[in-house]
Amino acid sequence: MKLLNPGPVCLSPRVREAMLGPDLCHRSDAFAALQTRIRVGLLDVHGLDPSVWTAVLLTGSGTTAVEAMLASLLPADTRLLVVENGVYGERMTAMARGHRVPVTTLTLPWGAIVEPAKLAAALDAAGDVTDVALVHHETTTGRLNDLEALATLCDQRGLRLHVDAVSSFGAEAIPPGPPALTSVAGTANKCLHGVPGVAFVITRRAHLATCPARARSVVLDLVTAGREQDRGGTAFTQSPPCLYALDAALGEHRDAGGWAARHDRYDRLGAIVRRGLAPLGLHPWLTDGIRSCVLTAYHLPPGLEIEPFQRALAARGYLIYPGQAALRERLFRVATMGALSETDLERFTAAVADVTHARTNRRTNRRTNRRQTG
Ligand SMILES: Cc1ncc(COP(=O)(O)O)c(C=O)c1O
Repeated sequence: MKLLNPGPVCLSPRVREAMLGPDLCHRSDAFAALQTRIRVGLLDVHGLDPSVWTAVLLTGSGTTAVEAMLASLLPADTRLLVVENGVYGERMTAMARGHRVPVTTLTLPWGAIVEPAKLAAALDAAGDVTDVALVHHETTTGRLNDLEALATLCDQRGLRLHVDAVSSFGAEAIPPGPPALTSVAGTANKCLHGVPGVAFVITRRAHLATCPARARSVVLDLVTAGREQDRGGTAFTQSPPCLYALDAALGEHRDAGGWAARHDRYDRLGAIVRRGLAPLGLHPWLTDGIRSCVLTAYHLPPGLEIEPFQRALAARGYLIYPGQAALRERLFRVATMGALSETDLERFTAAVADVTHARTNRRTNRRTNRRQTG
């Protein structure tokens, strides 16, 4: 099956084979070496200086990392503003509320562009905001939020910025410059091409040092986890096979030319899909502003129902995702992460043509039969 959903992704042979590495106790020297190599490798992906930044590993999925970031890195006097323009922004608000962080939102329609002027107006209206949280790539629609411009605004106002980069880390630019940028949450199994089970938060060492341990959670406590990992240990049991896979995936990412090369590759693969689907009348949902290179959402034309469409494509070996919640019947999403080739995507567009033609033929036959029997 070719996975064209936004993670988990198809694995390369190098990553798959790495999972079969030797049995390993998470309290051994060999584990400590593996963990350190991965933490350094994660910073390297976006050229982050290890004397300024630290990567803390967590066992879990992307949501684990995002929630750990919000539970651990917001000091007690935080007033948080969450930018919402999709499912994952809204989820951050729910997490902040769950941890009793005072939170206001800038709530925009799903897929909307987050203009800095809108954020500025929301900050003015809220008054006492100290921290902003936003999603870099809103996987709900494929919208890429303008991290650089929004971070600059946070800089101008002396705010800290926390970013859900779960579906962008490793393939979209993450500017290390803005002082406001305080923490970034990511996962192994999207643009990095590892397997699900390991997530991470990258944060400024100086900020982490000011945060209290176990402030809102034990299992999501990045302060203790970071301290233990700096000593070569780990607060809780980790998953060596997932870490073997991430280690290999980071090596592959580096050998292939780093995040910019991966960005270009996704762009090329996405263009093959767009070119192949346009003659079928299937067009991208977002036409303005910036879209991610990772995923494109397409209009689902009237009469094409998502479930039979998905099932027909799955029967031909391709997994796609529908839109989320209210967008379920209105769009479908195609991601180009993972070990996929140009040929895979050319064949995918041929499969879509096959499915849509079969449907048109069925409708024409039904109409002809009705006319003949009528
Ligand atoms: C932007 C973003 N944040 C968070 C998540 C949640 O990640 P997970 O499903 O791995 O917990 C996703 C998943 O697609 C995502 O795209």
